[in-house]
Amino acid sequence: MKKGLLIALEGPDGSGKSTQIKMLSNYLENKGYKVLVTREPGGTKISENIRNIILDNNNAEMSSVCEALLYAASRAQLIEEVIKPALEDGTIVLCDRFVYSSIVYQGIARGIGVKEVQCINDIALNGVKADLTLMINVEYEKGLERKCSQRKLDRLENCGSDFHKKVYNGYQQLAKELNNIVTIDGNNTLDYVHNKIVNEIESFLK
Ligand code: TYD
Repeated sequence: MKKGLLIALEGPDGSGKSTQIKMLSNYLENKGYKVLVTREPGGTKISENIRNIILDNNNAEMSSVCEALLYAASRAQLIEEVIKPALEDGTIVLCDRFVYSSIVYQGIARGIGVKEVQCINDIALNGVKADLTLMINVEYEKGLERKCSQRKLDRLENCGSDFHKKVYNGYQQLAKELNNIVTIDGNNTLDYVHNKIVNEIESFLK
């Protein structure tokens, strides 16, 4: 029986998810919750290895379907090895990206199709669903600019601005269609965005 909560953070590249997840995790731990932070693709030894294959700039010839299946494979391992046991243990799991990343990046931006990507992932998810998804919204140009200033770009980040524009628009479309996604304006200071996230989490936990 599931007792914990799965909260996913989503958003275009460079939206500041990883920093916000750390701040949120500290906040929840200080309030006495048992918290586990993980990320996609990754979060287990096997999933991190898959991550390296996906994001490697040398794998430029990777087909979109291969990419979608690898993200799903990485997710399947993370769910079985980490997320399910943590939820059964009553933990709040904070996941840096989850299945909506595949819907947006592979389904919409790569053009595989939302239904098709959902279908691939139904097997990987094995019934696990996020209880709440927070989408940190920043313009894709701004996000990529942030990434560029931090480090060398990976294969996905190097997909060009047309691709990232589709990602941005894909997130807007998804947030409009689904009522379990809360959009947070990421164009502000870290503390401001953190407070917005905390307000959403607090009202959700009530
Ligand atoms: P992420 O770890 O968020 O990047 P960062 O190195 O900035 O922390 O995600 C890696 C990339 O993978 C990112 O460009 C988004 C992409 N992605 C997909 O295309 N599909 C997916 O299902 C997931 C989880 C990520």
